This record gives sequence, structure tokens and C-alpha cells, in this order.
Amino acid sequence: ADGNFDYDVLVIGAGPGGYVAAIRAAQLGLKTACAESRETLGGTCLNVGCIPSKAMLHASELYDHAANGAMAKLGIRTTVELDLDTMHGQRRDAVKQLTGGIEFLFKKNKVTWLKGRASFEDAHTVSVGDQKVTAKNVVIATGSSVTPLPGVEIDQKVVVDSTGALELAKVPRHMVVIGGGVIGLELGSVWRRLGAKVTCVEYLDQILPGFDGDIRKEANKVFKKQGIEFRLGTKVSGVAVNGETATLTLEPANGGEATTLDADVVLVSIGRRANTDGLGLDRIGLSPNQRGQIETDHDFRTPVDGVWAIGDVIPGPMLAHKAEDEGIAVAENIAGQHGIVNHDVIPSVVYTWPEVAGVGLTEEQAKEKGEIKVGRFPMMANSRAKTNHEPDGFVKVIADAKSDRVLGVWCIATVAGTMIAQAAQAMEFGATSEDIAYTCHAHPTHSEAIKEAAMAVTGKPIHI
Ligand code: FAD
Ligand code: NAI
Repeated sequence: ADGNFDYDVLVIGAGPGGYVAAIRAAQLGLKTACAESRETLGGTCLNVGCIPSKAMLHASELYDHAANGAMAKLGIRTTVELDLDTMHGQRRDAVKQLTGGIEFLFKKNKVTWLKGRASFEDAHTVSVGDQKVTAKNVVIATGSSVTPLPGVEIDQKVVVDSTGALELAKVPRHMVVIGGGVIGLELGSVWRRLGAKVTCVEYLDQILPGFDGDIRKEANKVFKKQGIEFRLGTKVSGVAVNGETATLTLEPANGGEATTLDADVVLVSIGRRANTDGLGLDRIGLSPNQRGQIETDHDFRTPVDGVWAIGDVIPGPMLAHKAEDEGIAVAENIAGQHGIVNHDVIPSVVYTWPEVAGVGLTEEQAKEKGEIKVGRFPMMANSRAKTNHEPDGFVKVIADAKSDRVLGVWCIATVAGTMIAQAAQAMEFGATSEDIAYTCHAHPTHSEAIKEAAMAVTGKPIHI
């Protein structure tokens, strides 16, 4: 390290932003430490987010296929019994293995894990627990946590956040999900599949804000068909817990008479907010913006010399892969290289069944910017989806009317999360819809639907 400091780089937070930044910095020859207050590395994503939610989504999906007759239709008869303890056990195992894996990578790359809460003394001095360390560069990667609903206390028994909803010891009779965003739909799906009645209360007039309008409508239709009940344009104005159950007060978002709804589990999933409390930002003269986030420039520099920030704590989508890419870029920038993240091409995936995914502009956003052409292709006409009895969903390719450059791709399909990678790559390479249409796609794959939607941009799909 530079002789004046203990470390070249100190990263605060070991989530996908922070741990990736620390590993890349070490790979680039910088003496690196990472402060993390949790017992395990990996942040929200590995401990209570992406990974445990996917473990429950995968297991509950298989259970659902077995229990609801989908497997029987394929000639697989089963007697189905839910063993929730084992299901939770395999979730914990996945988390343990992956968080342990990051600890191994820290050791392998010689990143020092400083255990404890970090707080700035000055821009180059940080206290972690009861020790003080100095670093030439400090990267704030403290992530985000659940936005509370005013007046509603999360007890993790009757009223839970996503962390509590992953751990429920029994299947609720009636789960009310507050917020029809990503968490509400993923975790609502888990418990619906395992037998709960699920009602989703959403303030806006449609679920999944930020997604393409047609996709939002279609997703709503699909999840409704699966049995999730939606109360759109409705806000929750109160939750009263009485012993083992709760009574919610609901009001139309535009005003009107209040109604009540009883539940035995209430999931609060109305968004997440940046973690900056207790960081001592005032001691370095850094103030968060109105939304509580830390602003940076394109290189992830904050206005304070030597202090950088990445991931959920800065503006942009709160996604693990966005945080990871920023982690790599910030380390490269600290090392004097040119780390860049293209924030226009960050895919978003909802891991329900079918999956909902998109990258780039929505049709609404693209229209505002200029003239566009749109190609669509239904999964019902895709041979693989049809063979697998997965008819729901479609692909939509949005291209600039003049240049034909692809501006956005949206899809609902069982493997939409995997399909969207090719769209992101095509957009990163500046592809036109014609480029995608003339790329040979293996048959029979769901991905052919992207090729056909691209063909539809200029009006010539084959299979519809
Ligand atoms: P975090 O992962 O939040 O990590 C920050 C870390 O910093 C934490 O471990 C925290 O303990 C630590 N920390 C904070 N303050 C201090 C301090 N002062 N001192 C020391 N340590 C500190 N994203 C996806 O892309 N795909 C998904 O499938 C997905 N699923 C999700 C499911 C759920 C239920 C949730 C809640 C989130 C999900 N996300 C998903 C979002 C994803 O988890 C976040 O975008 C990602 O974790 C952000 O990474 P980060 O490194 O910025 O912050
Ligand atoms: P979200 O922002 O996706 O959705 C919150 C929803 O709650 C919005 O639709 C909003 O209109 C609604 N809402 C707000 N206040 C309300 C109220 N009082 N009553 C009723 N509805 C209300 O937030 P969510 O689902 O909590 O997830 C947080 C973040 O975590 C996501 O934005 C995403 O970035 C990340 N995440 C990503 C996942 C993925 O990539 N698959 C999975 C889970 C989370």
C-alpha cells in the first residue's frame, strides 16, 4: 500500500457490489480490505435476497408442477407431500455454500475482511468496530434495506418483510402482499404455490412499475390465472395485528371508502432504500440526495476526493448484476484504468413462472424519444414452449424506425431470464433488429421467439 495508508482500497459492505470491487481491486495489485458487519459475506443478495428467494422459487415451482396436475399431464403420477423443513434446509444450504464461497475468494485474493460496522472519521480514516483503519480510497457499497410502511411494525411473524417471508415456518392461509413489485410477485408466488391464498395490494393501477406496459398487463393476467388476487389502485392505510392475524385497512388510491381485509401473514414489499445511516457521512461533508442515495459521477466518484460509491446505495436499478458491474468498474477506475458500466443496457428479470424480463427502453419510453417499430411474437407459436405446455407470454422487440437499432426487448416466457441475455448482448453490440433476425438460433429453443419477434419488426415472422 501507499506508505501513508493501511490500505490502497477499503470497501464498506460485502454485497455483490462490495465483494466484487474488493476482489477486482486485489486482482489489480491493490492492498484491499472490506468491512462487513454481517456474520457472513455476500450482502443482501446472497444472504436474504437473490439466492434464498431463488432457492424457494425453484423448490416451490417443482412442488406446484407435481401438486397441480402439470406433471400428471406428462404421464408422471405422484403423491405429493410438502416437507417445508427440508425445503428451508436446502435454501439455507445454498446460502451457506455461496457465502462461504466468497470467504474463500477473499482468502484466495488476499482481501482482508474487517468484521464490524464501518463509520467515517474522515475521508481516509474509517472506524470498523473498535479499530481504526486508513485507506487511500474508500468505496461505499452499503446497499439497501426494506422501505418501511409508516405506522406498520414488521414483527417477522404476522407482518414480515422479504427476509421474514423467506423463513415462514408454515404455509399461511391468507397472505396479503403490500406492493405488486418484484418481491411481492416472487415471494407471493412461492407461498401461493405451496398452498396459501395470496392477495396482492398495489397502489398503482398496474403491477411491476418500470416494466413495459404490455408486459405489465400480460403479467397481471398470467398471475391472476394462477390464482393471485390483485387489488390494483389501492393503498394500505393501516395494519392492525391481533394475536396471530392482522386486519388491513385498504383505501382506493384516488380516494373513497375504506374496506378491510384479514390475513394471517402480511408481506411489506413497497421498495427498498439506500443504507447511509450511521456511516458518518456528515464527517466527510457528503450528503445524500432527496431519495437518500449517494450521487456519483460516471466513474463512481463522489464529490469527496478518494471516496467512491456503487450498488444499491447510488441511483439506478437495485439489482445485483448492476452492483457487480459497478464493483468491477470502480476498482478499475481506482487502479487508473477505464471502468465503464453501460446503464442503458441492464437486464431486469422477475423469477416467477413464467419469468418476466426486459432490457433497454419500454415501448412508452422509446415512443417519447422518437419513431419506432415494434415486433411481437407469442410463446404459443414457439415450438419448444408449445411442446413443453408453456403457452403463456410473448416477446417484443422495439427498434428505431430509421436506423433499425434495437432499443428494447421484453419477454414473458418460462426461461425469459436466460433469453434476455442475448438481447442485452445484441444491444451492447449496437445490433439492429435485422441482425437478430438473421442470426441462426438453435431449434427448438425458446430463444427462437426473440428471432421471430425481430423478424416481425419488419413484418416477416415465419411461424405466425
Ligand atoms: P447489499 O447486497 O445490500 O450489501 C451491502 C452490505 O453492506 C450488507 O451486507 C450490509 O450488511 C453491509 N453494510 C451496510 N452498512 C455497513 C456498514 N456501515 N459497515 C459494514 N457493513 C455495512 N437482485 C437481482 O439482480 N436479482 C435477484 O434475483 C434479486 N432478488 C432479490 C430478492 C430479494 C428478496 C431482495 C431483498 C433483493 C433482491 N435483489 C435481486 C436485489 C439485490 O439483492 C441487490 O440489488 C444487491 O444485493 C445490491 O448489492 P449491494 O452490494 O449494493 O448491497
Ligand atoms: P418495487 O419497487 O419493485 O415494488 C414496490 C411496489 O409497491 C410498487 O409497485 C409500488 O407502487 C408499490 N407500493 C408502494 N407503496 C405502496 C402502498 N402503500 N400500498 C400498496 N402498494 C405500494 O419494490 P420491491 O418489490 O420491494 O423490491 C425492491 C427492489 O429489490 C426491487 O426494486 C428490485 O430492484 C430488487 N429485487 C430484484 C429482484 C429481481 O431482480 N428478480 C427480486 C427482488 C427484489
